[in-house]
Amino acid sequence: MLQQLSAEELPKVEREMTTFIATCTTHEELKKSMLYSLEAGGKRIRPLIVLATVQAFQKPLTPPVYQTAGALEMVHTYSLIHDDLPAMDNDDLRRGKPTNHKIFGEALAILAGDGLLTGAFQLISETTLNPAETVLLLQLLAKAAGGSGMVAGQAGDMAAEKQHVSLEQLKTIHRGKTGALLTYAFMAGGILADQTAYVLDQLEQLGEHVGLAFQIRDDLLDVIGTTEELGKQVGQDEKAAKSTYPALLGLDGARQALKAELQKAAAIVEQLTEVSEFQPQIFTELLELFALK
Ligand code: IPE
Ligand code: IPE
Ligand code: MG
Ligand code: MG
Ligand code: MG
Repeated sequence: MLQQLSAEELPKVEREMTTFIATCTTHEELKKSMLYSLEAGGKRIRPLIVLATVQAFQKPLTPPVYQTAGALEMVHTYSLIHDDLPAMDNDDLRRGKPTNHKIFGEALAILAGDGLLTGAFQLISETTLNPAETVLLLQLLAKAAGGSGMVAGQAGDMAAEKQHVSLEQLKTIHRGKTGALLTYAFMAGGILADQTAYVLDQLEQLGEHVGLAFQIRDDLLDVIGTTEELGKQVGQDEKAAKSTYPALLGLDGARQALKAELQKAAAIVEQLTEVSEFQPQIFTELLELFALK
């Protein structure tokens, strides 16, 4: 089910993103730089969550669904370009290719990120959704991406290098830098599927657990994964003395924490089955993506 969604529907999200950037960017080198990072691949997990959520509530996948999913992936891609900059994580490899600044230089990498971020809001503002839904999607994305969401988490992450932080402080960083955009993916799907405030609240909680699970897994893979399978240099967190779950709790502790978050997520999916049009199968498959093999 999820496999089919990935294979048949994600290409439509790709098309929305690339068409938007190709037609709305007036500077050729900037356009190249934006498309370079966007088309380098990536798991596309955030747009997949948007589509899966709409489908779980048996609602049709319409152009605004693909556009919102694409906008979210654009914000995520911007966050990766900036995350890799020398002033931040200073990484040379991303999505199996040299990082954006290695190819285009720091100035254009910063500007490509700026363009992807602002373009995402333009893209959502130009869909055929009604004004109320549009404003809600834009407002939640601004909150998720900005100074109380992803950007705050990234600031926390940088400040926590070489520092001892408590588990609670680490969770707050993860909720921001990774959880906020993943939570938006579920909530945007719920909004596009015309769900009630109760369901949106459940989806928000689901997103928070999935967000934590996702970053714990990312931090574990930085220790136990390979550069080939991840498309990025491993061992970088230890090198930068990042605050991570494996650093704080050890590998076993981090694995247990990952499992615990996924169990909490599964419990919310179970609870959602009380909503009449909700079909859990696709969410169950989705959660399996976040487990360590
Ligand atoms: C990497 O995100 C950054 C984190 C939030 C951990 P992804 O693992 O989703 O990266 P891509 O999109 O697949 O490259
Ligand atoms: C990055 O976390 C989170 C964001 C980009 C917002 P990481 O720094 O751990 O991501 P990777 O490992 O470089 O992909
Ligand atoms: Mg980082
Ligand atoms: Mg990084
Ligand atoms: Mg990482």
